[in-house]
Amino acid sequence: MFQFYNEDCIVGAQKHLASDSVDLIITDPPYGIQGDKLDKHYNRNENFVLDGYVEIPEEEYADFSHKWIQEAERVLKPGGSIYIVSGYSNLIHILNALNKTKLEERNHIIWKYNFGVYTRKKYVSSHYHILFYTKPGKKHTFNTYARFSDSEKTEIGGSSNYHDREDVWIINREYKPGQVKNKNELPTKLLTKMIQYSSNEGDMVCDFFLGSFSTAKIAKGLNRNATGFEISKTAFDYQSAAIDNLEKGSLLSTLRVPDENKFVNCGKKLDDAERQAIIRSYQSALTKGATKKKAIEETSEKHGRGYWSVLKIVDGQKDEEANSENTTEDDLFQYL
Ligand SMILES: C[S@@+](CC[C@H](N)C(=O)[O-])C[C@H]1O[C@@H](n2cnc3c(N)ncnc32)[C@H](O)[C@@H]1O
Repeated sequence: MFQFYNEDCIVGAQKHLASDSVDLIITDPPYGIQGDKLDKHYNRNENFVLDGYVEIPEEEYADFSHKWIQEAERVLKPGGSIYIVSGYSNLIHILNALNKTKLEERNHIIWKYNFGVYTRKKYVSSHYHILFYTKPGKKHTFNTYARFSDSEKTEIGGSSNYHDREDVWIINREYKPGQVKNKNELPTKLLTKMIQYSSNEGDMVCDFFLGSFSTAKIAKGLNRNATGFEISKTAFDYQSAAIDNLEKGSLLSTLRVPDENKFVNCGKKLDDAERQAIIRSYQSALTKGATKKKAIEETSEKHGRGYWSVLKIVDGQKDEEANSENTTEDDLFQYL
């Protein structure tokens, strides 16, 4: 289902979106810093920037943020996720509005990009904040191994999976010389990452501030459904026609496939018999003189389970926790 509305997102959500109906919201609200300042980007020809960006007056920003975030909370399914991209100037209003909801904070991500806002007498601003929250009531979707398996290594030998899930993301803006773009178009790589980790094919992805429809386009390309709002008629008319020409699922073939050959049982449910077998293999490796790290690596290879899962099992923790984020720093240092 693809349904977009040329309307204010607060009124539009109330009219068109049922409560608990959206799996994932990715959105980039107007910045409340006077639209013309957004023109001052280093090395960009503004002739190709699509007119029609609608800004929110600074004095209305707090109230506006509160109202749309309240709607976002309502339409999210229990267990649904929301990512809000925000500059620093009005971050406080977004945080205050989030604090008034029951949404739970998962991460405060720093997105570092190129082509920052140009300044002369101070440092160039080249990062945004991404607030990742989830709605309580159900386990949230987080596809830990969607992009990198447990076994893959970076060029310097660290875990690729760990590296990809760090909360500082260095993703460049797309350089599109000679192409029409929205003032603050989010890059494909950034959107793909959020959509891969926090949704599954067939899920409903919503953007309250569609702009160039970048979220909706990537969602459609990744075989998700999409909905959302854009108040500017110019942007809406141009981009809603563009998204119609995009084929659903067309981006799936561009995704890298994690190398999971080594850990064939990664993500499968663990029963008691397998748990005991893993503990026996680990103890046997230790008896033969292996270090803890080596014994875990051998056991992990033998049983087709990732390093972390084996570590949790041998340390006597539950299967549930084997895939959780509650890893201690000591665990990390043993692995990195
Ligand atoms: C920062 S831009 C979004 C950019 C978008 N993420 C992209 O990649 O192109 C914010 C957008 O929100 C739109 N907007 C402003 N007020 C709005 C409202 N009340 N309801 C819906 N859209 C609105 C603006 O016209 C602008 O296109």
